[in-house]
Amino acid sequence: MGVSSPPRIAILASGRGSNFEAIARAVGNRTLQAEIALVGSDRADALVLDKAKALGIPTLVEKDQAKLKSVLMDLNIQYLVLAGYMRILKEDFLQGFADTRGFHRIVNIHPSLLPDFPGLDSYRQAYEAKVPQTGVTVHFVDGGVDTGPICAQKSFSIADCQSLDEVERRGLAIEHQLYPETLNWILSEKFEILNHKGKLHVQPR
Ligand code: GAR
Repeated sequence: MGVSSPPRIAILASGRGSNFEAIARAVGNRTLQAEIALVGSDRADALVLDKAKALGIPTLVEKDQAKLKSVLMDLNIQYLVLAGYMRILKEDFLQGFADTRGFHRIVNIHPSLLPDFPGLDSYRQAYEAKVPQTGVTVHFVDGGVDTGPICAQKSFSIADCQSLDEVERRGLAIEHQLYPETLNWILSEKFEILNHKGKLHVQPR
């Protein structure tokens, strides 16, 4: 009986890489069926690169999106996974990951309940807005800023948080659980795309 190889992914990250670590851990303990072919960063000093090297995963530092796209296309990956990648991907780049179902095979995690608090520093935005709860969103990437089809969301209370640090700690713990869990059904293609009045909705099945 043949064993089929797990879906290949590449991960892009700009900094610390705690989401990368959570994904790598899930791959290591086989709760996530995937092979991480590459970890790329736009920053040579990103901690994520050291973490990937320590696990024997190939790394790349590349700011130029055309060059990055060409490397990724050669790797034949199924999905591109953004984990704290702080650059906006241009239309040309996105086209390399266009899926016939109408979305791009690029997944992102964002630290808010989108469409609330898109952009940068979203935990801070929520904390300063004094909302009682915020959350985490996993979504497919489109041409806008944090606007693509939502795959999964999880909220948590911040009403009793005494500091922004506390909000971030709670949020990251949720990210580290939600991202591998959501990637699991995305990578195994166990989802449906529904088109409601031109807006795509993603549902696990
Ligand atoms: C995470 O909180 C992630 O959700 C956020 O950056 C942090 C990266 O942490 N991403 C964004 O804000 C994307 N717009 P990490 O490097 O430890 O995974």
